[in-house]
Amino acid sequence: MTAATNLIQHSFELAAERCEDLTPLVYRRLFREHPEAESMFRREASDLVKGSMLALTIDAIMDFAGDRRGSFRMIECEVQSHDAYGTPRKLFGEFFGVIADTMREILGAEWSPEIDDAWRRLLGEIDRVVTQTEA
Ligand code: HEM
Repeated sequence: MTAATNLIQHSFELAAERCEDLTPLVYRRLFREHPEAESMFRREASDLVKGSMLALTIDAIMDFAGDRRGSFRMIECEVQSHDAYGTPRKLFGEFFGVIADTMREILGAEWSPEIDDAWRRLLGEIDRVVTQTEA
């Protein structure tokens, strides 16, 4: 495990201490910054999908930033399934940045330059996966 991993995991731990559930904050920000995303979720059972989608995305982020045991592969798989749902790749990639920005807001002064740097590098790497995954 690298120091950068610790920082990503640490940032999620700090967020969990301050906020029981990131879901409403992440989707509020997503829909504020990307209003077109809201109507992409079907109306019924959409809260379940949203909660589960975020939880699985966070698992994948932690694994991607950590020892890459398996769930990091979900990012590539979901790029392809979201192509099929009609989610533009750019928007798909931006979801990770929305999570990062939500965490930055929750952590406030505890979002250190080191955490910021670890996230910036991670988002760059994820962006390469998202743009380079084959159709
Ligand atoms: C803003 C970007 C995104 C939009 C608009 C979006 C949209 C959706 C929609 C509409 C569904 C439900 C499909 C259905 O009707 O069953 C879904 C499911 C899912 N999405 Fe996303 N998605 C986005 C980003 C992501 C990202 C970045 C990941 C993770 C890498 C992800 C992972 C998943 C997973 C795992 C499910 C299945 C959840 C479940 O049913 O348990 N999504 N997404």
